[in-house]
Amino acid sequence: MKRDFLIALNIKNNLIDEKVYFENLKESELKSIIFPSFLQLKDVFFDKNRKIELGVQDLQIDNLTITGEVKACDLKQFDVKYSIVGHSERRYKLFETSEVVSKKITESLDNKITPVLCVGELEQTENIKLVFEFLDSQIKESLGNCFNRQKDIILAYEPVFAIGTGVSCDIEHIESVIDYIKDNYNFNEVLYGGSVNVNNCKEIYNIKNLDGFLIGSASLDYNKINKIYDLIENEK
Ligand code: PGA
Repeated sequence: MKRDFLIALNIKNNLIDEKVYFENLKESELKSIIFPSFLQLKDVFFDKNRKIELGVQDLQIDNLTITGEVKACDLKQFDVKYSIVGHSERRYKLFETSEVVSKKITESLDNKITPVLCVGELEQTENIKLVFEFLDSQIKESLGNCFNRQKDIILAYEPVFAIGTGVSCDIEHIESVIDYIKDNYNFNEVLYGGSVNVNNCKEIYNIKNLDGFLIGSASLDYNKINKIYDLIENEK
């Protein structure tokens, strides 16, 4: 029996040729979401060939007038259904705190946009207990007042040291963390992100409790995503 498996494409601050992209992206049986640059949100929304749901990589913390921000209520006009919150690049390069992340989760949920909360330890360690402790506090602080709304939230486990390197985290490590999160929390879905690619997707997919991937670099190339679809669809 095939299980439900989510493919989330994090385009980051890159631009795609969305016409060519959606003309060539396979119609997959796997549920998929694309998170384009804000610059292309409208293009992607209007693209007739789009086969997948639409998400954003960020949203502002409330409904005030704030220079440079994008309001959740405005995103709804473009049928945005998901938002990435707490991505490590924002936490560590833009100094976004877990308190801010928790406000973004609230804003997202208030506007019926499903948050994809990213968490993950910074450095590789053999000591899995330390990883669990780190994740517990990051999850708790990021959820804030929304701790009881885990069922409405998707969690993405993204160990920071594996992001954008081409080398994913060790399979047993991912498996231990996914099991720990499943045993101790109640999230709607739990994804893995960090250098998921054509070469490692099958092995990571075979982690039985995993519900999907959050894919960065590989998502820029529809050929790679089509290949990942094929590999997963052929797995039983
Ligand atoms: P990556 O990015 O697949 O390039 O490692 C994942 C992410 O940052 O969400």
